[in-house]
Amino acid sequence: MNILVLGSGGREHAITWALGKSPRVDALYVAPGNGGTEGVAKARNVAVDMMDAEAVLAFAREHAVDLVVVGPEAPLVAGVADELRAAGVAVFGPNADGAQLEGSKAYSKAFMAANDIPTAAYAQFDAAEPALAYVREQGAPIVIKADGLAAGKGVVVAETLADAEEAVRACFDGAFGEAGSRVVVEECMTGPECSLLCFVTNGKSFPMAPAQDHKRAYDGDKGPNTGGMGVYSPVPIVTGDEMAEMVRIMDAAAAATAREPFGLDYRGTLYGGFMLTPKGPRVVEFNARFGDPETQVVLPRLKSDLAEVMMAVAEGRAADVELEWSDAWAVCVVLASEGYPGSYEKGKVILGIEEAAALDGVTVFHAGTKTNADGELVTNGGRVLNVVALGETFEEARDRAYEACGLINFEGKQLRSDIGAKALRGRGAWE
Ligand code: AMP
Ligand code: GLY
Repeated sequence: MNILVLGSGGREHAITWALGKSPRVDALYVAPGNGGTEGVAKARNVAVDMMDAEAVLAFAREHAVDLVVVGPEAPLVAGVADELRAAGVAVFGPNADGAQLEGSKAYSKAFMAANDIPTAAYAQFDAAEPALAYVREQGAPIVIKADGLAAGKGVVVAETLADAEEAVRACFDGAFGEAGSRVVVEECMTGPECSLLCFVTNGKSFPMAPAQDHKRAYDGDKGPNTGGMGVYSPVPIVTGDEMAEMVRIMDAAAAATAREPFGLDYRGTLYGGFMLTPKGPRVVEFNARFGDPETQVVLPRLKSDLAEVMMAVAEGRAADVELEWSDAWAVCVVLASEGYPGSYEKGKVILGIEEAAALDGVTVFHAGTKTNADGELVTNGGRVLNVVALGETFEEARDRAYEACGLINFEGKQLRSDIGAKALRGRGAWE
């Protein structure tokens, strides 16, 4: 098999790394990739614009690509998978209609409402005045969401009415461009968050391991929201009943994708973002792709051949999807650039990755890195590296990850020192 992976983050490095282990894979291409993806056996980075479906298709034809794996949401929402499929290329990732489950909060909420999927109560608005009236009637705390894609910045969990009103006005004043021209207002839910990523094909869902992300920038869940500062899997604070309910909800969602009126022919990853509320698990959001950094702890625990799984998903062969998981614990700590998620400098030389990766159970996935003109590995983004460690226990995985983080250096290295700490204290830590 020749496989083309679209994307350039830690998620795409982890996917490329996992595909590289498959004996069925001959060549891997990553467009555009990063400083880590080109180090994966059989892989090379290629300068193809992943948003340009024609360019991707031309490359796929020229290099006899059997499968295209779409990493991020933007090309999915833009319909890149549709064009490739229409031309007869197998694709892992939903068509543009299925990607609306992530690309439009209003679509996603309507999908949940139509299929009795437990989620926060909501209302949607196309103008500021009725939205403000509704917010005042409901009171704080309340959640304001720009409808469209806003790079994770379009959600405000407002503790006061003033913050909620400001968030509504910001959306309609164009803070998120077209993405904010429609606003979803939601009931504020409470409880720990947990992600359950599932392979979905032909209306069937195949759950992967659960994972828990840390979205805030600083220790103690303080500071601004980020793309994710660290993650672990499995999630010890989830009860058996909660896990069963999350699996049931994902099964129901997958079945609904295949039915009218939705009829989405969804083939890829459906990411369920859950909140474990006192009334049971509720969906916070769906994503139409693998999570970043969730993938970096989920795929190292997958014992099955990812290339075979992805091909079966892409071809709609649900009966051929078989997943086997290791019992290992995985912890990922993100090393970020100073200033992230705000502005940051690039081009800082990175040292110590080889020493870190030589530790037992440690793998370093690259996110924002590149090789400069002098052949040095340098920082090239906000989230720079994902340091992942496997262990027989949660503590062992965590200690190894932090030991590895200590061996890696670049100017302005920023990390959270408490990834997994709350979960180690138990469910009571969320009370
Ligand atoms: P989303 O982009 O929809 O995942 O929202 C980003 C983050 O905002 C989530 O991970 C939650 O931490 C928080 N959030 C979103 N919706 C709600 C809600 N209804 N209640 C409480 N927190 C929420
Ligand atoms: N880590 C959160 C996401 O991928 O959406």
